[in-house]
Amino acid sequence: MRVRNRKGASELLEANPHYVVLDPAAAKGRWQELFGNDNPIHIEVGSGKGAFITGMAKAHPDINYIGIDIQKTVLSYALDKVLAADVPNVKLLWVDGSSLTDYFAEAEVAQLYLNFSDPWPKKKHEKRRLTYKTFLDTFKEILPEKGQIHFKTDNRGLFEYSLVSFSQYGMVLKGVWLDLHASDYEGNVLTEYEEKFSQKGQVIYRVEAEF
Ligand SMILES: C[S@@+](CC[C@H](N)C(=O)[O-])C[C@H]1O[C@@H](n2cnc3c(N)ncnc32)[C@H](O)[C@@H]1O
Repeated sequence: MRVRNRKGASELLEANPHYVVLDPAAAKGRWQELFGNDNPIHIEVGSGKGAFITGMAKAHPDINYIGIDIQKTVLSYALDKVLAADVPNVKLLWVDGSSLTDYFAEAEVAQLYLNFSDPWPKKKHEKRRLTYKTFLDTFKEILPEKGQIHFKTDNRGLFEYSLVSFSQYGMVLKGVWLDLHASDYEGNVLTEYEEKFSQKGQVIYRVEAEF
């Protein structure tokens, strides 16, 4: 999903260094210090306009959340939400999910979320899927032993692909939901895409996979 450039997006991000970490390489190994506590760090890669990360931060004040997106404009919309919610336990990063080992030390991240990741349906674009093995290599490095990825999507093809990718990587599937909203799963926080697609009647898939 590409969004149209937003005038003033850079200025907005730069004006909020408390929330937007503009030099994430300098934060490597120091994230809890930056948050000012020793609470666990959960990250969402491809956080979009920030509904999930903001909702999770409100629901779990004892967890530090970092929303990561490759698009500056999208991150600026997430910042709007974070500012409106005034949540102290959120930070935002404008970086590519493939380079997270530059910004996080080994096992520095306790939990990783992928929500409605771009499906890249063409085989020639497989390497861009966030559940492709090179991304899993990166995620594994910053998560602890037995760290988990929690992944939601409406895209059946990407879900099937990801289940296979996780399995081939040797990960253990701890839970699979083929219709999350019809299940008894509690505490689900909706993302923007989840709200849009579920309103259209699409089924939402979810998996928890452990390294
Ligand atoms: C389809 S949107 C979903 C946004 C949000 N998670 C939701 O569920 O509403 C996918 C998001 O992933 C971001 N993205 C795609 N590839 C990425 C990458 N390699 N690193 C970081 N973000 C990425 C896109 O910019 C986009 O904002």
